[in-house]
Amino acid sequence: MNIGIDRIAFAVPRFYLDLSVLAAQHGIDPDKYRIGIGQEKMAIAPHDEDVVTLACKAAAPIVQGQEALIDTVLFATESGIDQSKAAGIYLHRLLALNPHCRVVELKQACYSATAALQLASAYVMRYPAKKVLLVASDIAKYDLNTPAEATQGAAAVAMLIAAEPRIAQLEPLSASYTEDVMDFWRPHHRLTPLLDGRFSTLMYLKTLEQCYKHYLAQGGDCDFAAYCYHLPFVKMGMKAHERLRKLGAPEAETEAALHFSRVVGNAYSASLYLSLLSLWTHRADLDGQRIACFSYGSGAVGEFFTLKMQPHYAQHLDQAGYLQQLQQREALDYARYLHYWQPLEEALADSGSGSPRFLGVQQQQRQYA
Ligand code: HMG
Repeated sequence: MNIGIDRIAFAVPRFYLDLSVLAAQHGIDPDKYRIGIGQEKMAIAPHDEDVVTLACKAAAPIVQGQEALIDTVLFATESGIDQSKAAGIYLHRLLALNPHCRVVELKQACYSATAALQLASAYVMRYPAKKVLLVASDIAKYDLNTPAEATQGAAAVAMLIAAEPRIAQLEPLSASYTEDVMDFWRPHHRLTPLLDGRFSTLMYLKTLEQCYKHYLAQGGDCDFAAYCYHLPFVKMGMKAHERLRKLGAPEAETEAALHFSRVVGNAYSASLYLSLLSLWTHRADLDGQRIACFSYGSGAVGEFFTLKMQPHYAQHLDQAGYLQQLQQREALDYARYLHYWQPLEEALADSGSGSPRFLGVQQQQRQYA
């Protein structure tokens, strides 16, 4: 049975910081960011936007009319807002989903949305009439004045996983690799991760290599029209591609998948799926073609898998809407960036009137409008 992505959409916060502002503030050559890591802007979430509101903005257009068929919500994130309750339960209420729908949160750094995609596909294989709402939503936040600061970002990608999908089929063969390493982690008491940045880039490449070799060892077909990578920053995707080429992978499109990440930054679990959306926004000629995907989550787990584009897939995407959303964002100056970087205390959020909106914490409970 053909199972995969039937609908997809994304959301970004309404603000961004241009990395030239950060470079000027730190006295760094702006080319280090623009060329050295390949980034121009990073999405910054204000206090009234969190992983729930971003997920809600991304999912709202794709769940319309599908509510009765969605009986499972998988919420992939590493920016958890509670140690116990799944963020997806707030989403379930905000989207007015069917009460007879199960909801769960998945975590493994940036990799979890790919695990969710595999689990959702197996579930739909068993219940072909059902649809799974898969949301990857994250806010990547690093300590100020560190090399990682320029690789922040935020986004949510929502997908409906269904039988006979209209956009992309998840092909059955995939290759994973797991190794217990400390390249990036976030202990309970911390808002920002601890990391060994250089080591994390080496682990990313090692995991890619291990996955790709395992894919070949299983007889994987390498006839790809494009490659999409997890993009903590754009240059990482370029390095990943160089590594695959050294291993003999055939040449194919990589550039179109990079555009969105260049102006959004790292979106952790959503990053690979934002790369796919970038590719599909800029290429409408992929009917019947295969896309190679690499998902990486520090700690570390990686997976190399493939998608097959469905006929007329481009008609089921909102390319103009995606570009408009990115263009309509507002630039922050450094002072406002710092204001939003600082976590909100117990008080209600100080500005904004949009919906969905995080209102703050009252009596130890998160409030949403
Ligand atoms: P750094 O130490 O500031 O950078 O940190 P650098 O000195 O290594 O320079 C970066 C590149 O800029 C170099 O190019 C320089 O040559 C170049 P490369 O050698 O890499 O090709 N450069 C310039 N280019 C043009 N003009 C200039 C100039 N100056 C320098 N003037 C680092 C870089 C990535 C380590 C840092 O940003 C970091 O720690 N980031 C966070 C960690 C990260 O993103 N790791 C990626 C792999 S792990 C992963 O993907 C998982 C993750 O998403 C989390 C999860 O799974 O949950 C992070």
